[in-house]
Amino acid sequence: MTKMPVYMDNNATTRTDPRVVEAMLPYFTEKYGNAASRNHPFGWEAEEAVETARGQIASIIGASAKEVIFTSGATESNNLAIKGVAAMYKKKGNHVITQATEHKATLDTCKRLERDGFRVTYLPVDKYGQVHAEQIREAITDKTVLVSIMAANNEIGSLQPIRAIGRLCKEKGVLFHTDAVQAVGKIPLDVEDMGIDLLSLTAHKIYGPKGIGALYVRKKDPRVRLEPQIDGGGHERGMRSGTLPVPLIVGLGVACAIAKAEMPEETQRTFALRERLRAGIMDKLPESYLNGHPTERLPGNANISFAYVEGEGLMMGIKDVAVSSGSACTSASLEPSYVLRALGVGDELAHSSIRFGLGRFNTEAEVDFVVDLVVREVNRLRAMSPLYEMVQAGIDLKTIEWAGH
Ligand SMILES: Cc1ncc(COP(=O)(O)O)c(C=O)c1O
Repeated sequence: MTKMPVYMDNNATTRTDPRVVEAMLPYFTEKYGNAASRNHPFGWEAEEAVETARGQIASIIGASAKEVIFTSGATESNNLAIKGVAAMYKKKGNHVITQATEHKATLDTCKRLERDGFRVTYLPVDKYGQVHAEQIREAITDKTVLVSIMAANNEIGSLQPIRAIGRLCKEKGVLFHTDAVQAVGKIPLDVEDMGIDLLSLTAHKIYGPKGIGALYVRKKDPRVRLEPQIDGGGHERGMRSGTLPVPLIVGLGVACAIAKAEMPEETQRTFALRERLRAGIMDKLPESYLNGHPTERLPGNANISFAYVEGEGLMMGIKDVAVSSGSACTSASLEPSYVLRALGVGDELAHSSIRFGLGRFNTEAEVDFVVDLVVREVNRLRAMSPLYEMVQAGIDLKTIEWAGH
């Protein structure tokens, strides 16, 4: 029996893997030392666990352990990378380049920089949600200190040409930061090969605990320097003070080790589930559209818009499955997703879009249940839609003159 509700929102967060929980537990109970305590075995034990985790995290991105700085999550990592570089290199220049569909942790950080006198270029994306290295080449000036482009988008799953962008930044002598939250453990990443200087990641998207993340900070060619955003005891090479949360760090380390070891098999499995879901729904429902790139996308992500259905009604109808909608609740109204807007998706289709995020713990039976449910609900809502009835009758809606328009 499929357990209700079915969780298909793995781009929002993931269940902590039981193996991760098990590895963390002793660090709450017997092994509770402060990793900064130099004078007794409790401290040494904690420090050893932290350094093991640092190595596990470095290994999944091709870095060395010394280049990993612990943070509270990717929101903090993005803040530290972007504000830290901007402040440290402000004598060199005051220009940052990013793109329209970044996570708010990047966009709002950039807005803050603008209020502080920096200039930020927000590059547009194409209809698949991708930017291209050529756009960045054109935007770089002699005042550019940082390019920040995410590796994979959290709503539509589109992958960005990170390697081409990293190589361009190297050629131009500009630092390159990537928010790789959604990509870590899903696609191979290598900071050397891809020319990445700073990389944000977080545990809770890779079956680790919430509240712990990391920032990779390149140590040589070039050595990246950051203005700390939190002052205190000088932990993490002075870049991020605060007592290290050892159990969470152990969890992040083990989550990375599992993700690395199982990535080839897991990628195939989630991709197969995603395709079963996508094809199952789209083959049965005309006028449904996949948002994002058809192939260059995260294996587990499908973001689909359904024409002639009302978004809120659809979400109500599929309450037995936990997914995200293409509308964001702002204070008083439902706003269509800024990511879908940036792709040129119209407001109606954006409102009726659903993000399915498949992950490690989803099954074929769950996918089949969700396909049936979505197909049934969309058909039910369309049967009540006068617009859909007109389309079925062969009327071209564009030729109609609506009263009041
Ligand atoms: C692409 C991306 N960046 C940043 C974040 C923020 O990460 P955290 O929840 O660890 O602060 C998220 C998750 O919400 C994300 O999907």
